[in-house]
Amino acid sequence: MIGEETRIVEIVFPTNTNSYGTLFGGHALSLMDRLAFIVASRYARKTVVTASSEKIEFRTPVKEGDLIELVGRIVRVGNTSITVDIDMYSENLLTGERKLSTTGEFVMVAVGEDGRPTPVPQPVTALSS
Ligand SMILES: CC(C)(COP(=O)(O)OP(=O)(O)OC[C@H]1O[C@@H](n2cnc3c(N)ncnc32)[C@H](O)[C@@H]1OP(=O)(O)O)[C@@H](O)C(=O)NCCC(=O)NCCS
Repeated sequence: MIGEETRIVEIVFPTNTNSYGTLFGGHALSLMDRLAFIVASRYARKTVVTASSEKIEFRTPVKEGDLIELVGRIVRVGNTSITVDIDMYSENLLTGERKLSTTGEFVMVAVGEDGRPTPVPQPVTALSS
């Protein structure tokens, strides 16, 4: 799983836009957190929770009707935490034009049944960031 990319593709419907007709930031964050959860859970094969979301940058607006593609990958494995880098791209369905829209890093922590942090497997190969 280390070095692998995991993707989610969605279309932006009106229910997920703000009053300007562009993607609501809260929906973008929700999808990013969801992907970080999937990536970290598949790596750890343990229950994970979000400890923090960092360096979130909304770079370009996404229009209603565009596709969004989220790409997640692990950039750091700690003792109990896994840091997942998420890039979200927008794609115009008709022209294919793609833009890097939103980026961020999510720190996910594995927890045991008591809700306390528990160790995650250590990578066998070095991570490139
Ligand atoms: C995340 C949580 C388990 C951490 O518990 P904690 O007692 O503070 O953990 P520790 O201080 O022992 O640190 C455990 C690991 O988490 C990391 N961590 C804890 N808080 C962090 C933060 N705010 N930002 C980044 N990393 C953090 C530590 O660096 C450490 O990583 P490492 O073991 O890889 O070195 C706890 O704060 C929690 O349950 N938070 C609520 C989570 C939640 O409800 N998320 C939303 C829904 S999923």
